[in-house]
Amino acid sequence: MSNTQVFIEENKDRFLNELLDLLRIPSVSADSKFKDDVRKAAGFIQDKLLAAGADKAEVMETSGHPIVYGEKMVSDNLPTVLVYGHYDVQPADPYDLWDSPPFEPVIKETELHPQGAIFARGSCDDKGQMYMHIKAFEAMMATDSLACNVKFIIEGEEEVGSDNLGVFLEDNKEMLKADIVLVSDTGIIANDVPSITVGLRGLSYVEVEVTGPNRDLHSGLYGGAVPNPINILAEMIASLKNEDQSINIPGFYDDVVILTEEERAAMAKAPFDLQDFKDSIGLRDVEGEEGFSSMERTSIRPTLDVNGIWGGYTGEGAKTVIASKAYAKISMRLVPNQDPDKITKLFQEHFTSIAPDSVSVKVTPHHGGQPAVTPTDSPAYKAAAQAMKDTFGKDPVPFRGGGSIPIVALFEQILGSKTVLMGFGLDSDAIHSPNEHYGLFNYYKGIETIPLFYKYFAEMNG
Ligand code: BES
Ligand code: MN
Ligand code: MN
Repeated sequence: MSNTQVFIEENKDRFLNELLDLLRIPSVSADSKFKDDVRKAAGFIQDKLLAAGADKAEVMETSGHPIVYGEKMVSDNLPTVLVYGHYDVQPADPYDLWDSPPFEPVIKETELHPQGAIFARGSCDDKGQMYMHIKAFEAMMATDSLACNVKFIIEGEEEVGSDNLGVFLEDNKEMLKADIVLVSDTGIIANDVPSITVGLRGLSYVEVEVTGPNRDLHSGLYGGAVPNPINILAEMIASLKNEDQSINIPGFYDDVVILTEEERAAMAKAPFDLQDFKDSIGLRDVEGEEGFSSMERTSIRPTLDVNGIWGGYTGEGAKTVIASKAYAKISMRLVPNQDPDKITKLFQEHFTSIAPDSVSVKVTPHHGGQPAVTPTDSPAYKAAAQAMKDTFGKDPVPFRGGGSIPIVALFEQILGSKTVLMGFGLDSDAIHSPNEHYGLFNYYKGIETIPLFYKYFAEMNG
């Protein structure tokens, strides 16, 4: 065992306890009620970076939540790794669906985590995964084995669309200059199937409002003779999918990159068990776009999903009413080379055009993000693959994920840097859901793997 690995082994309990402290800070970026906690989490990261041996670490202001920047420059002759992560978390609602309070971490065993998992909001996404990098950095510093220069950019607005991070990249190009961006904010296929994410989907997110009568009406006095915005919204939404489950918005597929049969065959090699998939989420059957496998439907194909829909009376008992308004939040996951702004515009035009004259429709765009693919033939990918092979004892499988990290495309466009997505979570870790958790196996595996990435990346660049 190397000195670094010995140091990690000897400091395991402290590494865990520090993460638990971080998880106790409810840094929910979406809810202004937690604004001070978000800042507190930023301060925590700054302190830990300095304690681990960073030359400097600063909490830098933006027009939203702050960004923590830290660095350790060893030598101009060494390559530079830019570590990106986020310290903000999703709202924990609904609280009553949690088995233990979301900001009071507890460790419990699960079927997939026999060595225990940390239950708390942000444990996997992304505090647990981001903090692995700070502890790996500490271990390399303590054992004098940091093989690359390292810069940390840890933001507080990932879960609300990273609106201020693009500007921050533009304003700080020189400071952020790096040979590679390293991110742990994705997952592996299973604890015995290591993998590296090589693609992320983009996102267009809109809210729609359908207005009918100028006030809520008695559904007996008026029902049958007036437009019901909720019925109409339901019909409009239903019309957005064709029978084969493709998306019925003119121009939607124009820019979608179609993979070759060879590429699809290579993708299909990644292990995927449909029965396990169904069982894990309690489904008798799956569905999706005709002609594509479940794995393809969540990676190389775009989607359209209603994320929330409301209107009218939803309280206890019955109230006979025709609502004046109906609403829905709709997300479209995008693939290369779809452009989120263009898709949002296509949606807006189409959705407005299909509305009957009896109602009016308003479409409000929320955040978006571009899709990204990362190379598998680069020194950085090879370094990550070798590092994972060392710690898992198996070659990692490249695969494309269905989620989005909008800033990845901007790292390339603004800084000219490619990204390696070396995540350690599991899909079953319930990120964004009640009872989010992160395996202790995964936390420690990440801390052990990261120093090896630095070592191999330095060798391959040297
Ligand atoms: N870490 C996730 C994205 C992710 C998770 C990618 C697992 C691949 C595997 C990230 O924090 C996230 O939740 N992103 C949002 C987008 C953002 C604009 C709110 C998403 O994908 O919904
Ligand atoms: Mn995340
Ligand atoms: Mn997230």
